[in-house]
Amino acid sequence: MLYPKLNAYRELVGLDGIYRFAPNREDRASGDCWPDGLPVNALELAVPGSWNEQLRDLHEFHGEGWYERDFYVPASWGERCVFLRIGSTAGNARVWVDGCLLGEHIGPHLPFEFELKGGLKSPGAHRLTIAVDNTLRWMSLPPGQARRDEDRAGFGLGCPDVPYDFFPYGGIHRSVQLYAVNRDHISDLSVRTSLDAGSGHIEIAGKIRTRETGLRMRVEAGAYGVESSVEGGTVEAKLTIPSVRPWCPADPHLYKCVCTLVDESGTVADEYVLQIGVRTVEVRGNELLLNGEPIFLHGFGKHEDFPILGKAWAPAVAIRDYDLMRWIGANSFRTSHYPYAEEMLDMADRLGFLVIDETPFVSLSERVYTDACREQACAVIRELIERDRNHPSVILWSLANEPYIESDAGERFFREMAACAREADPSRPVMYVAHESPQQNRGAECFDLIGVNKYFGWYHETGDIDGSLHKLTDILTAFHLQVNGPVLLAEFGADAVAGLHSDPPVLFSEEYQADTICKQYQHVRNLPWLIGTHVWNFADFKTAQTINRVGGNKKGVFTRDRQPKLAAHTLRQLWNDTDAKPTR
Ligand code: GCU
Repeated sequence: MLYPKLNAYRELVGLDGIYRFAPNREDRASGDCWPDGLPVNALELAVPGSWNEQLRDLHEFHGEGWYERDFYVPASWGERCVFLRIGSTAGNARVWVDGCLLGEHIGPHLPFEFELKGGLKSPGAHRLTIAVDNTLRWMSLPPGQARRDEDRAGFGLGCPDVPYDFFPYGGIHRSVQLYAVNRDHISDLSVRTSLDAGSGHIEIAGKIRTRETGLRMRVEAGAYGVESSVEGGTVEAKLTIPSVRPWCPADPHLYKCVCTLVDESGTVADEYVLQIGVRTVEVRGNELLLNGEPIFLHGFGKHEDFPILGKAWAPAVAIRDYDLMRWIGANSFRTSHYPYAEEMLDMADRLGFLVIDETPFVSLSERVYTDACREQACAVIRELIERDRNHPSVILWSLANEPYIESDAGERFFREMAACAREADPSRPVMYVAHESPQQNRGAECFDLIGVNKYFGWYHETGDIDGSLHKLTDILTAFHLQVNGPVLLAEFGADAVAGLHSDPPVLFSEEYQADTICKQYQHVRNLPWLIGTHVWNFADFKTAQTINRVGGNKKGVFTRDRQPKLAAHTLRQLWNDTDAKPTR
């Protein structure tokens, strides 16, 4: 799915801003709610934004929220195709214009769009209504509730009672946009690149919407260009760039590729510019290779989380996060535990960060290993890959975080997800992030590599960092032997309350967190099949209220408002110290 862009042939209207809002607290059916207009006493909310931290009364609202605003279709769009695109909503969404249902999108964190037709795109004023259902459900993907209603004993539940360690924000979390293209236009482009003896090869497969014949697509990257015929709504273009500058963290060079759709008369019908990084990524033996060279990932598991904004995309926060990751010496991050905003990946392309792109499948267990859920999971994997496959920064697909895979059904579920990802994108390795031990990860060997989360000194061998170092090596080795390939230490660390200091270091102090990270990193860094260490987490983040979360998860090396703890300075030294500089 292409990201909307403004140019000489494409028009774009942003629909971010203040919306009218009403929570459906009576669990009404949609017909009884407000597709024909919100109540006069509607609230106001910002989009993009989560609702939970904007208004006090919505902090623990985990149901269906109704958004509404007016918008205008310009008179000049009369003969054009007009689309409404929403970057993501948390939870499922239904969209109306002027009370007419455009459609529904199932699942959070990924974009969707609907075409406006007939009277809905007539010039003038229209009403947009978006119902976002963030109800926590037992069988949703990911599961929304830790326990079934009938099993809820009450004691020890979180508020809300979710099976994962981050807050289930609700809202419209990325931009809402209206865009117009000509009747004949480029509807999708898929890029693959390869390297060969100093030359770069770019292959572009395009989907073209047209009722005409004789169209052609021209692809130009600087002095290099090619023109191909559109056949049956598809087009293939292949380009070779001699003496290519391969994309890599040290030189994230992007080639501006102008794709121009031309009709039989030579008139330009559409244009779309791709910023293409020519690079390859592969697993070979126990190594992760970028452009044929071994790489080592220094970085973090992150969250999309910031005060008041909740999970909403905010450019200023992204600028700050990349600046801090550069400062600390990180070269990568994982989009834990769900797909992040497209704009975050555009920045990684430009800045040269390596991204592990993760699905929303966190904490999967036996309950969801059904045929129906597997089909839904594969649909989400295809949606994610169709959105992100053109980003050179995306080097790995991570299909899940901390699943329990102990049954035939679970093993089949994961084998089929891996096959689905490889079919959708044969160009990138596929992994997932495991916890516990190999016994709870049946079928892991069908992945190209594996991530492992381990918290020795914290959840295990609490307080005993030094005494448990060998156990960290042992469990990583066990997973390496299971997959017979590379391992990423995907999460390790400790909670630290900023400003809490102790000598000797004790749990929750900044010193204890720094010690944990430093000693465990130094202990495993030179394992020959380890391809990286990602500290958990980049920053403190909001979680459900539970008795072991003091205002959220404090494993960040930065605070939630992005101020450094002692561990940030320790990591900066480790990752920037020439002695520790990775030789691969
Ligand atoms: C798990 C999980 C994280 C969680 C972390 C923790 O490994 O993947 O989502 O936040 O542990 O408990 O801090």
